Amino acid sequence: MKDLEWKDEYLLGIPAIDFQHKRIFDCLLRIAHGATDDDRLRAEAEIIKLLRLLQEHFLLEESMMQKLHYPDLEHHSAEHRQFHSDVHHLGQTSLMKKGGVPREAIKIAHQWLTEHLTVSDRHYMEFFASASNKSRRTKKPAK
Ligand SMILES: [Fe+2]
Ligand SMILES: [Fe+2]
Repeated sequence: MKDLEWKDEYLLGIPAIDFQHKRIFDCLLRIAHGATDDDRLRAEAEIIKLLRLLQEHFLLEESMMQKLHYPDLEHHSAEHRQFHSDVHHLGQTSLMKKGGVPREAIKIAHQWLTEHLTVSDRHYMEFFASASNKSRRTKKPAK
């Protein structure tokens, strides 16, 4: 389970975003812990929670991207939609089966999250940083 835990190397530097990312990881970890026992109600509640956390998080990121005219918004949103739909599908299929959420599915979701955070999310963070540096440079000094 240690490999599923949050790592500070995933931090991006915007506290609200980092906080949400960490909550998403923690939720997935709780699902992983519950995957070994057969408590479907608990697993179901955690998957519903994960879907809600993802929805809130994606909404926040996409609204920030919109405000700052991030050029890759469409592609980034498509990644979000795909993952949300995959988790939804995972919840539906694994809760119908005995044994709960398969370990393999958790590994795949974890891999998606780490890749998305360290590549796609980092990419927009760098764009935001350079956009704010540019606007600071172009601002006229106060007289
Ligand atoms: Fe994110
Ligand atoms: Fe994202």
